[in-house]
Amino acid sequence: MKRDFIDLWNLDPEEAWYIVKRTLKVKKGEEVQDRVLEGRNVAMIFTKPSTRTRVSFEVAISFLGGNAIFLQEKELQLARGESAQDTARTLSRYVDGCIVRNHSHHWLEEFAKWAEIPVINALTEKSHPCQVLSDVFTLYERFGEEVKNIKIAYVGDGNNLCNTWLVAGGLFGLNLFVATPEDYGPDSYYLQAGLDLSNFTGGNVYLTTNPGEAVRDADVVYTDVWFSMGDDSQDLKREALKEFQVNSDLLSLAKDSVLVMHCLPAKKGEEITEEVFDKYSDFIFLQAENRLHTQKVLLEFLFPKS
Ligand code: CP
Ligand code: NVA
Repeated sequence: MKRDFIDLWNLDPEEAWYIVKRTLKVKKGEEVQDRVLEGRNVAMIFTKPSTRTRVSFEVAISFLGGNAIFLQEKELQLARGESAQDTARTLSRYVDGCIVRNHSHHWLEEFAKWAEIPVINALTEKSHPCQVLSDVFTLYERFGEEVKNIKIAYVGDGNNLCNTWLVAGGLFGLNLFVATPEDYGPDSYYLQAGLDLSNFTGGNVYLTTNPGEAVRDADVVYTDVWFSMGDDSQDLKREALKEFQVNSDLLSLAKDSVLVMHCLPAKKGEEITEEVFDKYSDFIFLQAENRLHTQKVLLEFLFPKS
């Protein structure tokens, strides 16, 4: 039975923790990875730009012995209207897996439904599970088992990262406070999934419109751009997000030991000030590095040796 990774809830809590904990062992060199992708091909269909996701996946695939085939939508018959269904059925006959970044989560679900091979979401307008899985690893690496007790605040736009954090809060049983403006909140479906999962795991997922409430005494403050790829809303949104900027005033409410995270790319001067970005850049680029380590283990999990 093929396993897809379209949203974080495609993993159960035990599997999600397994990936995070194994990533730490592999990163430290305590466990060796097999070349599980030896002789296998993975197609990467990207309709949006990417630096981290594309390169870390290509390197991870090569590390595991596989071959990545990078495909831009404009060069495929998709650009001329071929359906998700027919593209998935065709590619399933050539390659062993697909990694997809696009503008339509609905399209990706349809594609995965028809693909006979594992499909990984490399970001849609709704979710970015590879990023947040890796971010939870970064926090586990820093805080160990305490990660379930620290206060994590997400502050900013209710976008794909925000949606995915809500699910992560529930799945991993974290203590997560999310602050977004009233009119730019997360998708209710993802919020509900986070709340439902936290009933099982003992997590705490809380949504507010008050950034100060989320950041007060926080151990970690996370933010992302106010205008995601494909989001062309303008001044009204910028105005609504003004008080959600991660700056030194807002951070003065957090613990002295607070760490700041950003999935990158950052728009310095909007969601985060240059000063704050520079101060926490070691941790932010550790986050970026960890995409590679986590994805090696994710690939190993989704593509076990037959
Ligand atoms: N964080 C992230 O997904 O970065 P890219 O858009 O560069 O892949
Ligand atoms: N929310 C951002 C994340 C980029 C990695 C976007 O979708 O553009």
